[in-house]
Amino acid sequence: MIDLQHISQEYKTSDGQSTFYACKDVNIHINKGDIFGIIGRSGAGKSTLVRCINLLNRPTSGKVIVDGKDLTAMNIADLRKMRREIGMIFQHFNLLSSRTVYDNIALPLELAGVSKSEIQKKVEPLIELVGLSEHKHKYPSQLSGGQKQRVGIARALSSDPKILLSDEATSALDPETTQATLELLKEINQKLGLTIVMITHEMDVVKQICNKVVVMERGQIVESGTVLDVFRDPKHEVTQALLGSVLAARELPPRIVERLREQLKTRKPQDKPIHLLRLTFVGTHTTDPVISEACRLFNLDFNILLGQVDDIQGQSYGTLTITLTGNKENYLQSLEFIRSKQIKVEELNHVL
Ligand SMILES: Nc1ncnc2c1ncn2[C@@H]1O[C@H](COP(=O)(O)OP(=O)(O)O)[C@@H](O)[C@H]1O
Ligand SMILES: [Mg+2]
Repeated sequence: MIDLQHISQEYKTSDGQSTFYACKDVNIHINKGDIFGIIGRSGAGKSTLVRCINLLNRPTSGKVIVDGKDLTAMNIADLRKMRREIGMIFQHFNLLSSRTVYDNIALPLELAGVSKSEIQKKVEPLIELVGLSEHKHKYPSQLSGGQKQRVGIARALSSDPKILLSDEATSALDPETTQATLELLKEINQKLGLTIVMITHEMDVVKQICNKVVVMERGQIVESGTVLDVFRDPKHEVTQALLGSVLAARELPPRIVERLREQLKTRKPQDKPIHLLRLTFVGTHTTDPVISEACRLFNLDFNILLGQVDDIQGQSYGTLTITLTGNKENYLQSLEFIRSKQIKVEELNHVL
């Protein structure tokens, strides 16, 4: 659906003395129906990149292929036609304050020369879809942030786009309104089969609605994959930082480490070894039955030290830090068993 090939965007630095790359050799493939997340810190190059998809930014080099057509090679007329298939929503809504809800949504159609009656046929159902029927004659200043964004969404949908670009569309909204807006976008994705590209700096947004994600830093992609995979095993330091609170429960608090060290010190030679593990799981498996089964099968004892379970798109996701006590051979067999249940196992004895 969307293929970004070797996209680079070079800008002059603010002093005008030299240049830098806001995007450097970025390659992304987005499938039809994806809700594709592009996440990164402020200044990473996300907006620059997303504006290349509709050529609001013409990249210094690289190709933008949408639906098999190379936008970078198109003449203005074809490009204009193509742009109608790509809607966009923004952090600050970009509504015209002198126009009502209805007239804001109608604007792109007016500009395209669509007749009044056709416009009405198009706009009324859109107002309904985004839940603003009671507000259609109001002006932007009379609306809440969430309502303004709904106008933005309806306006973006007015030309029947196949793709919706969203640049930090929920960043100015409170958490509850963010939630409702994300639900609306998900509904649109499912009902209209729209492909959505979500730019955000919030992992929560990615977690709630995206199926794939790339992480950007200094104009480059540093990590990519399905959302479940990236959450299960974030490799890059930026991804880990963005996952912040989700990952907080992965680090053992010092007092627990201390207690374990004490326990190890006071062990008698005949005591069975203690193994410290972190388990990460995604999906329908909950770890509890797996761990109890492993302990039963391999004659081990377990103790849960720390854990957190979260929800990503209806799938449970979590980490659990445990100790397993038992002889080495049994322990190694239990690791194999646990891993065979699609649970990631990390051995942590080195921290003790
Ligand atoms: N038109 C421009 N001219 C010069 N520098 C720019 C321009 N647009 C963005 N930049 C710079 O490019 C870098 C990436 O910006 P941007 O794409 O807006 O990042 P993000 O959306 O990830 O916060 C920043 O350092 C920004 O200051
Ligand atoms: Mg931005």
